[in-house]
Amino acid sequence: MKTAVYPGSFDPVTNGHIDVIERALKIFGKVIVAVGDNPGKRPTFTTKERIEMLKESTKHLKNIEVDSFSGLLLDFVKSKNSKIIIRGLRAVSDFEFEFQRALLNRVVDNNIETVFIMTKEDYVYLNSSIVKEIAMFNGKVNGLVPKIVEERLKRKFSKI
Ligand code: PNS
Repeated sequence: MKTAVYPGSFDPVTNGHIDVIERALKIFGKVIVAVGDNPGKRPTFTTKERIEMLKESTKHLKNIEVDSFSGLLLDFVKSKNSKIIIRGLRAVSDFEFEFQRALLNRVVDNNIETVFIMTKEDYVYLNSSIVKEIAMFNGKVNGLVPKIVEERLKRKFSKI
């Protein structure tokens, strides 16, 4: 039974992420969803909030754990006795960024592989930033994010 780690900012989790998690669970025995911080981004939601939203939106799934990490992803993967990193791929635009990270992670630790899972066609246009932008201007995000995220987005942006 292989354990894979699916890292990301999940700020917030979208239906595209859930689709990748569900697909990963068909391949791996266990998936650890790991909320990390991308040094290039300032998160809108706290780590605690991101974890809560992920837990709520994956409660229908078995063999999944939601955790967080700080520091290097490779160290977290090893601490979980895993050798597999999962990343979702949408369109060609993701490729260069993901390719660089996967290869760099492999240069640092050749025992850890990155596996890419292609998101469902319905979600190729979707990412957390665009969802936040729509929500910020009171647009409808139903169908793009889990119910709890929809509620949390409303709450977050009504305070601004
Ligand atoms: O959802 P994102 O923003 O694409 O997630 C990026 C994340 C958090 C997975 C990435 O920034 C990361 O791995 N951060 C930990 C620091 C690290 O290991 N950096 C080296 C990457 S080669």
